[in-house]
Amino acid sequence: MYTGIIDRYRDYLPLRRQARVISLHEGNTPLIRLDTIAAQLNRGVELYAKFEGLNPTGSFKDRGMTVAITHALDEGSRAVICASTGNTSASAAAYAARAGIRCFVIIPEGKIALGKLAQAMMHGAVVIQIAGNFDDGMRLVKEVAEQTSLTIVNSINPFRLQGQKTVSFEISDALGRAPDYHCLPVGNAGNISAHWMGYSEYLQKGVIDAPPVMCGYQAAGAAPFVLGHKVDQPETIATAIRIGNPQSWDKAWDAQKRSEGWFDKFSDEEILQTQGLLAQRAGIFCEPASAVALAGAMRDITTAKIPAGSCVVCTLTGHGLKDPDIAIKQSRAPMIKINAELNAVKKAILDHLA
Ligand code: F0G
Repeated sequence: MYTGIIDRYRDYLPLRRQARVISLHEGNTPLIRLDTIAAQLNRGVELYAKFEGLNPTGSFKDRGMTVAITHALDEGSRAVICASTGNTSASAAAYAARAGIRCFVIIPEGKIALGKLAQAMMHGAVVIQIAGNFDDGMRLVKEVAEQTSLTIVNSINPFRLQGQKTVSFEISDALGRAPDYHCLPVGNAGNISAHWMGYSEYLQKGVIDAPPVMCGYQAAGAAPFVLGHKVDQPETIATAIRIGNPQSWDKAWDAQKRSEGWFDKFSDEEILQTQGLLAQRAGIFCEPASAVALAGAMRDITTAKIPAGSCVVCTLTGHGLKDPDIAIKQSRAPMIKINAELNAVKKAILDHLA
């Protein structure tokens, strides 16, 4: 039976053998071929989505949280805290509940997807909404942690990245090699740093021959890595990556430089278009922030920045169900209202078969 990333990759994780493992059997997510989309690009690429939305709380954060909470509990911590654009708070709340410890989450008021808020509340976290953005929340979390015994479970906690690096192990194990290019969204920049750490460790151990080129994509209104400087008032519909002052700044630049990769940005409209494309052509419903990975891959494959014939993996970081508001608002799917009568149903069907 599969029992989560700690049991699966224990030799690669800095946890005490005796530590009580707090797991929801995260990881082991599917690597799904995007053949229809690849064919449309017509560049002979092998294109995959690593669908991290299928983790227990619906995002990649669970990989990091199982390790962070396991370690926090092992150290005797009784309460954890994080700032979040939503997914970290959902994951922290769930794993803290499972561990039987308290969880405090600081979120930007009105700027997180409803599903994520529901998760944090349902799992019993204390939800602190601030009149500020994620970057304000991050600053406050660091200040509070200095004056209390709360354990920070944001990705500045190194155990988070340790867990998240396992995504690169899984991809390499599944492909029997690393991809040529790895495309993913960048917000606080923990995840790109963790991916790179995973590939680097597999390279060092000789499991893979070469690491991928790391391609990090951001929303145009929250693109500090593209601009080369922090952004004061980040703004994007992809609230998960509405971040202007990424905490893993140096690590992400290191991943970009060492892998000879790049950063790029996309408008909200392009992000939503790609989210729709994935849902309608590939059957995968990811959240807007995740779609930026494929938007980037598609653009760079089309312009041959990613050469024809490459093996490309996109990390789809979170599940679309977290943000049903956006999905319903942007969807152009026909919505027909009729009387409950056979003829009316038949007419509606015939109208749309044409
Ligand atoms: N995609 C999703 C769905 C996210 O929730 C996040 C980050 C990212 C991408 C970016 O990852 O920050 O490691 O560069 N969400 C954090 C949160 C900030 O609080 O849930 P990153």
